[in-house]
Amino acid sequence: MDHNYSTKNSSVFLSVVVWIVLMTPQSTCATTTGKAIYNKACKQCHASGIAGAPVIGDTQWILRLKRKGLEGLVKSVKNGLNAMPAGGMCSQCSESDYKKAIKYMLPKNMPM
Ligand code: HEC
Repeated sequence: MDHNYSTKNSSVFLSVVVWIVLMTPQSTCATTTGKAIYNKACKQCHASGIAGAPVIGDTQWILRLKRKGLEGLVKSVKNGLNAMPAGGMCSQCSESDYKKAIKYMLPKNMPM
């Protein structure tokens, strides 16, 4: 009888563990990272600097950020700027997607 009791108890424990694992947000799904957006929609130009695009991690970003602020840079992506088409290669991205992609391209340890 004692044995039955403990078996039942441990299966309750197991379902709680399974529930916790299922409810824990996984970083690999649902949330789109700046890196993923960059790879999909910005890399084509910003990896090599095609047509004067500021290269990822380049100090040129500091000047642009200083001049326009993060919101201003987001606006440039949304509306397009010179050789950059509106939205980069992602016309269905949201402003927060662009913001994430821009942050990903800024030099490391930038004061924001
Ligand atoms: C077809 C090429 C191309 C793609 C794709 C592209 N860009 Fe650009 N981007 C450019 C060029 C060229 C410039 C420089 C424009 C200038 O200053 O004349 C630029 C400039 C920028 C700037 C600076 C704007 C400013 O006001 O100084 C930001 C921010 C930016 N890109 C973000 C992005 C993001 C985010 C993506 C992806 C969603 C992206 N770009 C995709 C070509 C591209």
